[in-house]
Amino acid sequence: MLTTLIVLGTPALLVVVVSLPWWLPDRIVALRARVFARINGDEGIPVPGDLVGVDRFREVYSHPAAGGRSEGAALSDLFWYWLSPGPEMHQEHLEAGERYDAVARVTRALLAVPRAEAEELARRCAARTLDGVRGLVRLRDLMMPLWAEFSYELVFAEPCPRAARDLIAANANDVVTSLKCTGLRHMDRRERLTRYLLGRLSRVRVPLPPGLTPLQQAHYLQGAFFNTAVVQMSEAMAHLLLVLARHPDVQHRARTGDARYLDQVIAETMRLYPLFGIAHRVTTGDIRLDEHTTIPTGSVLCFNYPEFHRAGFTDPDRFDPDRFDPARSERPVKELNHLPFGVAANRPCPAWRLAPIAMRAVAREVLDRYVLDSSVSHTRSLPSRGPCLLTPLDAPHRPRRALAYLRVRDRWEDVWRGLVQLVLGSYMVWDARRQRLCEHHFTSEPENRHARSDSRPDSRHGS
Ligand code: HEM
Repeated sequence: MLTTLIVLGTPALLVVVVSLPWWLPDRIVALRARVFARINGDEGIPVPGDLVGVDRFREVYSHPAAGGRSEGAALSDLFWYWLSPGPEMHQEHLEAGERYDAVARVTRALLAVPRAEAEELARRCAARTLDGVRGLVRLRDLMMPLWAEFSYELVFAEPCPRAARDLIAANANDVVTSLKCTGLRHMDRRERLTRYLLGRLSRVRVPLPPGLTPLQQAHYLQGAFFNTAVVQMSEAMAHLLLVLARHPDVQHRARTGDARYLDQVIAETMRLYPLFGIAHRVTTGDIRLDEHTTIPTGSVLCFNYPEFHRAGFTDPDRFDPDRFDPARSERPVKELNHLPFGVAANRPCPAWRLAPIAMRAVAREVLDRYVLDSSVSHTRSLPSRGPCLLTPLDAPHRPRRALAYLRVRDRWEDVWRGLVQLVLGSYMVWDARRQRLCEHHFTSEPENRHARSDSRPDSRHGS
């Protein structure tokens, strides 16, 4: 009987196992969302959503009362956990006030590089990184050392030693890996970088924010320039290069066309794959929407970039750089729902000017050297790190076998990675909620509290 069952069951089991990549990853993603929501609670008002539509996204984001950054949102405990050590000194998470202003001023000074210098620096870092590279790569891994060197030179105005580059890339990789729940945090690795930066504070090319301890200054630099800058630029470039690899016609036009077309490709990449999924704010005053509806003080607003970037576009999931061609665009380009660097009135990205200049220079360097091919799936969170085949322009271009291999490997990696993300993600969300780094910071240091015009509300929103 048992033998009959096994014999009959074997083909069925085989079918289930072989078909795993086609159904398991989606179920794991759905399960992960449910587990996270359960541990994290259903905090937050989604924007766009029932209360605030797409048409008022910018207006509410830009509202002076939509300014609280960390205090009062359970979500902050998660981000503080992933960005440790020193999340309380990360510019992104500082509440408005003197300290924030001092830190933001230094960031602006470090990023204020003339265009030609920025292009030359990016090109030089790309040339060093790409030398000798060919074949199968993971784009995010390829890009990390490049942006580590770039950030180092921005901050210290001298070439980045190899050991420092490796330390910075390992730190940034650790941050982004844990953010995507494909690995746990390695605090020893991150603290090694803090110690390294502590030893180099006197070499930073502009005066650091006054009134901070050396450790706070090191944490500030680590947060803005060696976490955010390296992670965001590597992710943005991985998306851009993967888009080029998956759309040979676009790649050909970008290689042979003018700079404007490459800009359109960058804009459309950031529309479809914005680096921020959700940016949250805690309201520091009431926001009156109409005579019946007010968002009360202390509400958590969750601005959903992917949703906003889909709204108002025909066939929004299709990749089409011509959407940003002024001659073909459905609306004037400035009016499109497209905010890759946030809203100008509410803590936009300080690198909004420099980042596209540097990305363009690096993309040009890559396109001048390689044909890019890929057959992997492309999602906003890109946990695969962007597998891609790089064939030097002067070498024979025969990608068929590599593409077939990448397609199968990607499917199976999705299964394994989904399980890893489910387990590690649940653990980290639980651990972050247990440690409550942000909440403890504000309750133990009352001087850090954001001035609110009112006390916390009883209800989330109402009239
Ligand atoms: C293509 C690359 C990048 C993209 C798409 C990007 C995107 C963004 C966005 C959308 C925000 C605002 C989020 C919000 O409203 O909360 C932001 C904030 C920020 N970004 Fe970037 N970023 C990029 C590169 C960089 C780089 C190179 C740096 C270097 C220092 C940087 C530093 C920051 C900081 C410090 C903030 C917080 C600003 C504040 O709260 O005052 N970003 N970024």
